[in-house]
Amino acid sequence: MANSPFDLANESSYRAWRDTKLAAYPRSVNELIVPLADPRRLTPSEIDALGSGCGRANMAIYSAPHLPAADKSLPKLLGQQLGLVHLEGNYLADEDGLSSITPAGEEGSVRGEFIPYTHKPINWHTDGYYNALDRRILGMTLHCAQDAESGGENALLDHEIAYIQLRDANPDYIAALIQPDAMTIPARMDEDNVARPEQSGPVFAVDPDRGFLYMRYTARTRSIVWKADAVTQAAVRTLADILAGSEYILTARLRPGMGLICNNVLHTRSGFSDSPEHRRLLYRGRYYDRLSFPAHAA
Ligand SMILES: [Fe+2]
Repeated sequence: MANSPFDLANESSYRAWRDTKLAAYPRSVNELIVPLADPRRLTPSEIDALGSGCGRANMAIYSAPHLPAADKSLPKLLGQQLGLVHLEGNYLADEDGLSSITPAGEEGSVRGEFIPYTHKPINWHTDGYYNALDRRILGMTLHCAQDAESGGENALLDHEIAYIQLRDANPDYIAALIQPDAMTIPARMDEDNVARPEQSGPVFAVDPDRGFLYMRYTARTRSIVWKADAVTQAAVRTLADILAGSEYILTARLRPGMGLICNNVLHTRSGFSDSPEHRRLLYRGRYYDRLSFPAHAA
């Protein structure tokens, strides 16, 4: 694309985009919280407020604590109004395509083998990092039906900020991480217990038609093979350092009736504790779509 800020040969385009992005980026997650009267029927001003957050940080947080938080139609219909319609179906998802992320009760259940369905922390990643590029997860939603008794916060970082901090450290690191063989996920059974073939791909990719930046990443060190050359190895180390201490990291603690909508930004989950009477429960949607904010008549 002409004048793409993600073109390594176009320093002036990058500089202009970078400076605007950093100036607009929220310094507190509170700047991204939008109270909604009814997520199932957004008003034009609510759409504008959510769109403003997503324009600044590729994410927004909605809050509708007055509605029954366990109602799955809240995140589903909210997403539909913002262009999120093609859900990734996976075999642990519920019938409506959203996954109920909650600690698995029984020892040895399929879900309990996978970290999302435990009380354990989850390190930095984007969702679906092991997907082939024709099944990219571009949009993601997390709706809180029940929060933990303690812990369970999400750290969040716009992947465009990670790109900026890495490019500012050394543009060669970006060049390394856009290589199609930068990151390889060995053939394995995945989180959804589906056998997947070996999957190689870039960390950063720019959509050829629409020009947006897409990121696949996991900080996991098991079940992932980074390209062995020195610059890729240095890029991965530097990216991990950025994620360990970036001043741009936002931390959200979703309360019942709150939720995150995002263009699959980088995120973590801290460990948490709950009890059988008070199980943490989040509904997660993974979409092949990016968020879109329809213009409305003034
Ligand atoms: Fe995730």
